Amino acid sequence: MADVPDTRPGHRRLPDGREVHGHPDAAAVATAAAALVAAALRDAVAARGVATLALAGGSTPRALHERLASEHRHDVPWDRTTIVFGDERCVPPDHDASNYRMARTSLLDHVPIAPARVHRVQGELPPAAAAADYERTLRQALAPDAPHLDVVLLGVGADGHTASLFPGDPALDERARWAVAVTAPDYVDEPRDRVTLTLPVLGGAGLVIVLATGAGKRDAVRAALAGTDTLPAARVRGRGRTCWLLDAAAAGGAG
Ligand code: 6PG
Repeated sequence: MADVPDTRPGHRRLPDGREVHGHPDAAAVATAAAALVAAALRDAVAARGVATLALAGGSTPRALHERLASEHRHDVPWDRTTIVFGDERCVPPDHDASNYRMARTSLLDHVPIAPARVHRVQGELPPAAAAADYERTLRQALAPDAPHLDVVLLGVGADGHTASLFPGDPALDERARWAVAVTAPDYVDEPRDRVTLTLPVLGGAGLVIVLATGAGKRDAVRAALAGTDTLPAARVRGRGRTCWLLDAAAAGGAG
């Protein structure tokens, strides 16, 4: 990809290569993210015949999912796309807190993707078993030895966590396993038992998109973009592009 300076208002590239895309509000972030995801999936299928997308949990991605299912329903090669999850809460798939349930209701039920191409974490299993099962699934679905994700979507918490990689958690130092079970800190709402992809997998992506909207994320965004690799969200770097998509509230004071 040509290293063309991005001169659009609110867009800038950091010294470490990460891109910061500023948008007026959360709706504009969702629209821009959906266009980025759709283009990257098309490019991946054009290059390799298949595309892989890791979805983010939480609430921010819902608007993006809705745009992928509407504006982009016909310009994404859903029949060649494999979907996995960046993390999951250890609950059954129909639980209100399930990231899979959020993705299913806002995206998967509305696009022509074969169920066999969607690989959820079996959150109904005990956490360690769910992580081991998910890793086996990923190695079969993606590649046995090198996880190749074309697009990884991530959110960021007010504490700077991303996926379910929380500050100070030993999972941040995991280099061999692709998925691990963690327990979120006690300031996180239940369910705190989680399964998360590890940094080597997230960092193996061609395109990492980090979504942050709302004033509550402002401090974490500022810290994560400051260039010090302390926060989990600061440590994710894609093989290709790493794009932070922010609304004005989250970007306030992001330097
Ligand atoms: C989760 C997510 C988590 C989320 C952030 C932001 O399972 O909760 O993976 O990392 O992306 O906590 O959550 P919101 O989008 O709800 O603010």
